[in-house]
Amino acid sequence: VCAPLTDSFCRKIRYLRVSVTDRCDFRCTYCMADRVRFLPRKELLSLEELDRLCSAFVGLGVTKLRITGGEPLVRRDILEFFRAMSRHLETGALRELTLTTNGSQLARHAGALAACGVRRVNVSLDTLDPGRFATLTRRGQLAPVLEGIRAAKAAGLRVKINTVALKGATEDELFPLVDWCAAEGHDLTFIELMPMGEDGLEDRIAQYLPLSDLRRRLAGRFTLEPLTESTGGPARYVRLAETGQKIGFITPLSHSFCESCNRVRLTCTGDLYTCLGQEGATALRPVLRGTPDAAGLEQAIRAAIARKPRGHDFDYSRGVPRGAMARGMNHTGG
Ligand code: GTP
Ligand code: 5AD
Ligand code: SF4
Repeated sequence: VCAPLTDSFCRKIRYLRVSVTDRCDFRCTYCMADRVRFLPRKELLSLEELDRLCSAFVGLGVTKLRITGGEPLVRRDILEFFRAMSRHLETGALRELTLTTNGSQLARHAGALAACGVRRVNVSLDTLDPGRFATLTRRGQLAPVLEGIRAAKAAGLRVKINTVALKGATEDELFPLVDWCAAEGHDLTFIELMPMGEDGLEDRIAQYLPLSDLRRRLAGRFTLEPLTESTGGPARYVRLAETGQKIGFITPLSHSFCESCNRVRLTCTGDLYTCLGQEGATALRPVLRGTPDAAGLEQAIRAAIARKPRGHDFDYSRGVPRGAMARGMNHTGG
């Protein structure tokens, strides 16, 4: 591999997150409007285009590929894509091929994903209460998600549960979640709610719960041992001495991690966002269509990475969300 992708702040880009669809079978209240309009399918990158793009990034030194959405497993040909990407695991160019999913379709795909070389999945699960789950996701049910998580574990996949911290909900579910993850052997990571999405920003402020709060509650019951190890993502981990389990914290608001950012994101239409929390993307699809050779594409990618901003401007501290993004998370893929 030639010199890895490096931005103007000397950060090396090793991690590509790819949204393969903006669609989702849930409508989580903090993520999308109930009556959200999705893109016409023909506007999505084809599998061949996705393959060319991802392979170009791998050729440029990306070693971690995370498939996201929307919900990646609602895209019909998604397993074909995982199969195609697994060849980069076989050559050793890619160290990790993984996905972030809401779990609703995991039961029927877990075995096939494991066969493609996926070793870990991150499953978004904000509550273990069936009623609250239905309200929060608007059209999701808890039982199939739990079934999917069981299937993933049975297929030999490591599961990390991602919980967005929500005021008025996560406080009373903190210990049930921690206990359930301990019993099931799953890692658990909490995420601070970011001011993103077309509407409902006021709700985001009202629901924002700094993770320092959850950390304090945890420290009241467990001994927290900070870990230096990383999964190559933004989470910082602690081990609970009493149970040995790993708990992660993703704190874009209360403690920015942009300084060590190693990630960029590709949307399902081929726009490259070099920061989750900034407008400004590079449309790679026209480049893809205009240049049959890899060189032109690589040049466009390098030029985009060189413009990667220093960080996001998310901030709720004055009671109004500053730096908010109208773009929904399902578009950029989290
Ligand atoms: P691991 O491989 O397990 O470390 O996963 P990860 O944390 O990289 O991926 P995951 O999909 O679990 O990410 C969880 C969430 O963290 C995302 O959905 C985002 O909400 C948030 N996140 C990830 N990267 C960034 C980032 O660069 N900036 C901000 N603001 N949030 C991020
Ligand atoms: N802030 C933080 N996390 C969010 N997610 C969706 N919207 C937001 C937001 N505004 C999370 C989902 C999932 C991951 C892909 O992103 O809950 O865990
Ligand atoms: Fe779907 Fe994930 Fe958004 Fe929920 S947070 S609506 S599961 S994309």
